[in-house]
Amino acid sequence: MEPLAMDGGSKAISLDQDELLQWPKMGVEEERAVLELLRNGEISQSEIGKTLAAEFKQFIGAKHALPKVNGTACLLSAFFALGIGKGDEVIAPTNTYWATVMPAAFLGAKIVFCESDPTTLCIDPADIRKKVTEKTKAIVPVHIYGYPCEMDEISEIAEERGGIPIIEDASHAHGAEYKGSKVGTLGTCAIFSLQGSKVIPAGEAGILVTNDIDIHERAMALGHYEMLQDLDRDAFKKYRRTGLGLKHRISPLHAAIALCQLRKFPEINGRITRNCETFLNGIEEIEGTGFEIPPRPSYIKRTYFMNQVLYREGAGIIPREDLTFLLGSEGLRVGQSRYEMLHKQPYFLERGYSASDLQFTDDLCGRLVSFPNFPWDESGELVQQYIHGIEKVAYHTRDDFT
Ligand SMILES: Cc1ncc(COP(=O)(O)O)c(C=O)c1O
Repeated sequence: MEPLAMDGGSKAISLDQDELLQWPKMGVEEERAVLELLRNGEISQSEIGKTLAAEFKQFIGAKHALPKVNGTACLLSAFFALGIGKGDEVIAPTNTYWATVMPAAFLGAKIVFCESDPTTLCIDPADIRKKVTEKTKAIVPVHIYGYPCEMDEISEIAEERGGIPIIEDASHAHGAEYKGSKVGTLGTCAIFSLQGSKVIPAGEAGILVTNDIDIHERAMALGHYEMLQDLDRDAFKKYRRTGLGLKHRISPLHAAIALCQLRKFPEINGRITRNCETFLNGIEEIEGTGFEIPPRPSYIKRTYFMNQVLYREGAGIIPREDLTFLLGSEGLRVGQSRYEMLHKQPYFLERGYSASDLQFTDDLCGRLVSFPNFPWDESGELVQQYIHGIEKVAYHTRDDFT
């Protein structure tokens, strides 16, 4: 094995990563689509949002899709549509982006945080079971980094408690599947963020999907006064002059980008999945790396919004900081957990939450190492360089591993 880069060897990564890992990446299709709207003056009023809704609901297999300004607005609309407010409790993981819960907090609900599963990093159904009460009015599983939550167990808990609504936060998991169904169709309703870092990046946008017409129309009434006039039923149509208070409609320019990216998604997602799986299989075969590969049961088709891997620290294993330093000096782009635990943030501490709660998940996420998801590596050469870089570091530090 050649010497480590820090000892004068050449770096494991020689390819141009700026190009191969660029994200988001807009092509001529997006440029053309946006330019056409600009030239037509369709910068506010346009039918393109409806086209996006039609194609997205087909992609997910849901009856209704409502594009909005962002995923946060979708979550607010979902909580609003379910009538969540003061005195209600909403169950969610602590390891997630703030928008999963803050719209419910804004509506007056109490957020009840749960631990994450030690292998999938998704919300732990056993902890939901412990924390569900008479006051629980919604459960919000997040398919974190693209890994589908254990929806059967979560649905069973919700059913046992008289049908607690489930809002899937699918912001990381466009196109992922659980037991043959797309995520986004496994709960009462679901939201997808299309923010610029997501696997269908539109800049700022989101979509709420549901099979429940009442939720769809209530969410529409909150933020889409202009769409209400086309409704068949009068329950919300009557509010077409005012709506119910907010303006959430998607900007046509972002809808145009979303549509182009949605159409490209199967190809891009196929490459990301292939590359991430080759990468994970490759590092699984290297002896003594300390990495714990996420489980891959056959009933789950995950996506790789992020390629996060747990690192087992302990006796005989080099600390994660040293490992990431060595990998970084080989040219690998490695990071840490995407999120800081929500329950430890000042908003919650000021409201009586304790930073020492949910220690298990805090420690778990402290062991994450994130790798790229290799979106443009068509030949798979960069993936091989990454595997080689890890192999090299493992070889030279083997004595320090178990
Ligand atoms: C898990 C999760 N939920 C919700 C959101 C909110 O989406 P947006 O940024 O489109 O408002 C995001 C986006 O960053 C997210 O990662």
